[in-house]
Amino acid sequence: MTLPMVVPDPSLPREVTIYEVGPRDGLQNESAVIAVDVKAEFVERLVAAGLRTVEVTSFVSPTWVPQLADAAELAARLDLGGPVDMPVLVPNDRGLDRALASGARHVAVFASATESFARANLNRGLEEQYEMFEPVVTRAVAAGVRVRAYLSMCFGDPWEGEVSLEQVVAAGRRLLDMGTAQLSVGDTIGAGTAGHVTALLDAFAAADIPTSRLAMHFHDTYGQALANVVAALRQGVTTFDASAGGLGGCPFAKSATGNLATEDLVWLLHGLGIDSGVDLEALVETSAWMAARLGRPSPSRVVHALAGSGV
Ligand code: HMG
Ligand code: MG
Repeated sequence: MTLPMVVPDPSLPREVTIYEVGPRDGLQNESAVIAVDVKAEFVERLVAAGLRTVEVTSFVSPTWVPQLADAAELAARLDLGGPVDMPVLVPNDRGLDRALASGARHVAVFASATESFARANLNRGLEEQYEMFEPVVTRAVAAGVRVRAYLSMCFGDPWEGEVSLEQVVAAGRRLLDMGTAQLSVGDTIGAGTAGHVTALLDAFAAADIPTSRLAMHFHDTYGQALANVVAALRQGVTTFDASAGGLGGCPFAKSATGNLATEDLVWLLHGLGIDSGVDLEALVETSAWMAARLGRPSPSRVVHALAGSGV
C-alpha cells in the first residue's frame, strides 16, 4: 500500500470530518437498478473503512428518483440511530415522516441558490422551496433531529450561468436561520475554482456566518475539486462532502458529474498530516468492489492508482 509522504502545514486544520455521500449522491444517479443488499453492504463497508458520517439514502418521491425508491427497505437493514451518523435527505413533510419512521436522527433538506435548479429539482420556485422546507426543519429540530441544509448551484448554474456571491450568501442565511445546524455549500456542476471558493467563504464570513457552520460539497466535473478543498482548508473549513470512488451527480442538472472522490480527498489530507480516520486500503477495496457491481471503473485517480496494485 502506497501512501504519500506526510508534510504537515501548521496553518491548516488538524482534523477534518468527511461527510460520505456515495450511497446517496453516488447511487441516485445510476441508471442500473442496484439491489438493496448491495447498497446495505456498500454502507457497511464504508463504515468499516472508518467513515463516521455516511449519508445513506433520500426519502424523496420515488417517481422523481426511482433509484432510491427502496429508502425505507435500506434503512430497515441499517441502524440510523446508532453510533455511526447516517443522515438521509428529506424534501417535505412526507419525507420527514418516512425518515422518522425509519429511525433517522439526522436529516438534510436541499435547496437551490437559483430559480432554475429549484424548479428542475424540486418543482418549486425559490420562495416556494423555503415554504416547503421551513416546517420540515422546525418539526425535525423539535423532534431532536439534527438538520443539515444543502445549497446547490453556489458556483454556477447550467441554465443561468454565473451566480453572484450575494445570492449564495443570502440563500445560505435563509437556510441557517431556519434552525439548520450546518450549511453544505454545493458546487453541483463542478465549475468553481480556488479563487472563487476563497471569495465565497470570505463573503460568508463578512456576513457574520461562521465558517464552522459550513461544509463544502464539490463535484469534480472540471478536475478542480481538490484545489478547491485546499482553498477551503486555508479558510478554516473542516467538513468536506465526498463520494467513495467518485460516484455521483444529479439527475436533474445536466453537466453534474461525479463528486470529489473520498479516496482522492483522503490522499490529500493524509499528505497534509490531517487526520480523517479513514483506512484508505479498505476504502479503495470498497470502491473497486462497487465498481465491479456497477460494471465500470471508478473515476477516482487514487482508486485507479491503488486498486489491483497490491493494495
Ligand atoms: P412534486 O411532483 O411537485 O410533488 O415533487 P407532489 O407533492 O405532487 O408529489 C409527487 C408524487 O410523489 C406524489 O405521488 C407524492 O405522493 C409523492 P403520486 O400522487 O404521483 O403517486 N411524494 C413522495 N413520496 C415519497 N416520499 C416523499 C414524497 N413527496 C412526494 N417525500 C418533490 C416535489 C420535492 C417531492 C420532488 O421534486 C422530489 O422528490 N425531488 C427530489 C429530487 C432529488 O432527490 N434530487 C437529487 C438530490 S439534490 C442533489 O443531488 C444536490 C446535492 O447533492 C448538493 C449539490 O450537489 O449541489 C444535495
Ligand atoms: Mg451533489
